[in-house]
Amino acid sequence: MSALEGIRACVFDAYGTLFDVSSALAREQATLGDRARALDALWRRKQLEYTWLRTLMRRYADFRQVTEEALRWSMAALDLADEGLVARLMRAYEVLDPYPEVADVLTRLRAAGLRTAILSNGTPAMLTAATRNAGLEGLLDAVWSVEEVRLYKPDPAIYELATRGFGLAAREIAFLSANAWDAHGAASFGLRVVWVNRSGQPREPLPGDPVAEVRDLTGLLPLLGLAA
Ligand code: LAC
Repeated sequence: MSALEGIRACVFDAYGTLFDVSSALAREQATLGDRARALDALWRRKQLEYTWLRTLMRRYADFRQVTEEALRWSMAALDLADEGLVARLMRAYEVLDPYPEVADVLTRLRAAGLRTAILSNGTPAMLTAATRNAGLEGLLDAVWSVEEVRLYKPDPAIYELATRGFGLAAREIAFLSANAWDAHGAASFGLRVVWVNRSGQPREPLPGDPVAEVRDLTGLLPLLGLAA
């Protein structure tokens, strides 16, 4: 029996999974040179740290604020002071490039009768902008934001938005994330997780086991019995 037998819906993480967060800084390569790569990595790491810390402290601030605060801290750490850069990068976050296979995979899933959704830390406004810019709005049945519960992933209350939203049991939902910690969080909750290990990272020793690991989203199709 396939690891995804009985799946009725596919739910996707947004940043890093559907949208390439590095595409914001790729556009600044010419002005920042080597520091673009350092800022990219530090910004993402701090952004996630702040979501985890705020969730532990029960001091929610939305993902736009957290993202900007992480950017400002990371720029200060790298001795970059440039208000124009802050504005450009925050705008770029709303129009991130989707990974090249995303639209085709979503189209194929829907043609096969599966429901599709995003479940993300992003604010509804950020997710609407990114989804629209990438031309994905017609390919998704729902876009769920953590904003409803004012906690961040991997709090189990976040993954429950998917089971409640679709009215399905956790094991009827496939969850795809490129973020290992998010993949483990969703698997620990009970969703059937496919880890999209885009950068060939080693497996994390965390609770919750993904049922499969793929290199990009096209790897999901054969797992569902669909031709690649
Ligand atoms: C999200 C982050 C975790 O979209 O990538 O929720």
